[in-house]
Amino acid sequence: MPTLANTDLLRAQLYIDGQWVAADCGKTFAVTNPADGTKIIDIADGGAVETRRAIAAAETAFDSWRKVTAKERSATLKRWYQLIIEHREDLAQLMTAEQGKPLAESRGEVNYGAAFVEWFAEEGRRIYGDTIDANDPNQRIITRKQPVGVVAAITPWNFPIAMITRKVAPALAAGCTIVLKPAKETPLCALALAALGEAAGIPPGVFSVVTGSRASEIGAELTGNPSVRKLTFTGSTAIGKTLLAQCAETIKKTSMELGGNAPFIVFDDADLDEAVRGAMASKYRNAGQTCVCANRILVQESVYEAFAQKLVQAVAELKVGNGADDGVTIGPLINRAALDKVSSIVNCAVENGAEVLIGREGSRGAEENYYYPTVLANVNEAMDICHEEIFGPVAPLLTFHTEEEAIRIANATPYGLAAYFYARDIGRVSRVSEALDYGIVGVNEGIISTEVAPFGGMKESGIGREGSKYGIEDYLEIKYVCLGGVNR
Ligand code: SIN
Repeated sequence: MPTLANTDLLRAQLYIDGQWVAADCGKTFAVTNPADGTKIIDIADGGAVETRRAIAAAETAFDSWRKVTAKERSATLKRWYQLIIEHREDLAQLMTAEQGKPLAESRGEVNYGAAFVEWFAEEGRRIYGDTIDANDPNQRIITRKQPVGVVAAITPWNFPIAMITRKVAPALAAGCTIVLKPAKETPLCALALAALGEAAGIPPGVFSVVTGSRASEIGAELTGNPSVRKLTFTGSTAIGKTLLAQCAETIKKTSMELGGNAPFIVFDDADLDEAVRGAMASKYRNAGQTCVCANRILVQESVYEAFAQKLVQAVAELKVGNGADDGVTIGPLINRAALDKVSSIVNCAVENGAEVLIGREGSRGAEENYYYPTVLANVNEAMDICHEEIFGPVAPLLTFHTEEEAIRIANATPYGLAAYFYARDIGRVSRVSEALDYGIVGVNEGIISTEVAPFGGMKESGIGREGSKYGIEDYLEIKYVCLGGVNR
């Protein structure tokens, strides 16, 4: 159990229409600490009925929330932002307890998550329409942007705060109301955010949270209910496809932030020390459990040996352990299934000729989900590891000879979320950044996430963008108003 300064932030009930309630059936499920398998708390196990009620409350609340001025909505969001920052340490403790990431990363994520609230508090005041010259002198044409209505959000366990605020803040700023289903592994941060939202004055029904272990039951209600006008989802491409199909019946607007298979390319003119720093940050952040993690490291042949040696040295310095302990830089994976999946991907690569330069020690004990940071050499494109999202602290190294070959390998995937490359030649920097089929390209940078830039993917990595000035657009409809009879 994490020690919190404000114990009121540890909530175990659903938050629906401004009320903290148990599941109708009284059922609960356990939230556990992935570092040691211990139970943190039992929380309400909501389902379709509670979700339907939250949607109905959101629909009622939408009538009034959409009419609140942008300035007032902004002020409410700013209060929420302040409260998140004030309670940063408690939120970080909760995050490390339920998700496992090292405390320093949890504190960083609270800041990152809060930044979306602050950003959209500001952006919500800058929603503009147009006036357009009409062909008919008797007409005036104007456009206005209006909130889409009730939004449903389904969020993952890897960023238990930032993936929520990145959706809820633009929705509320635009004048929408929202029902959130957080991942069953990390509901405590979501409920703490709701408690702080309540304290900030977000009105009842505007932001509800339905926790539950039956994801497909809750998902079916969120996607099938005609009152929901938009679904926003972060998670795997496979689940994204199912949700998209479910949303088709009622033609909902959708934002999909899905899987990735990020190439990380090191060219022969790169600063190798910088490239290693970038690879470490991109690959091993959150124990490799991010959609934008370097998934394939492509190194030009002439610098391959030097890069591999420096990378292994850096990996040897990582400290694996409970994220709550001092100095730990790699926490556990989220659960046993995740550990088994990473082990099986690595074992398969090794059986097919990959060489372990460091790592691959696996779990430390029956209840512990640690995978030691690993670097694999002799990896080639034919191996499954180059086509699957690893979602663990494993860096597969491949070699290439020419720029064209690097681009071809990098783009040979249905995914298109993030890509990275290290090079100094200005021509190459321009050519490669244009040729990569990815929504996000980090050039000489391993960490690209920020509230001010558009985050999102091409191809099977998703639809839409989050953060930045574009992130609010997905929560707005453009209405065209034609005023006729002006001179009659
Ligand atoms: C993700 O992994 O889905 C998000 C990563 C980020 O925001 O940096």
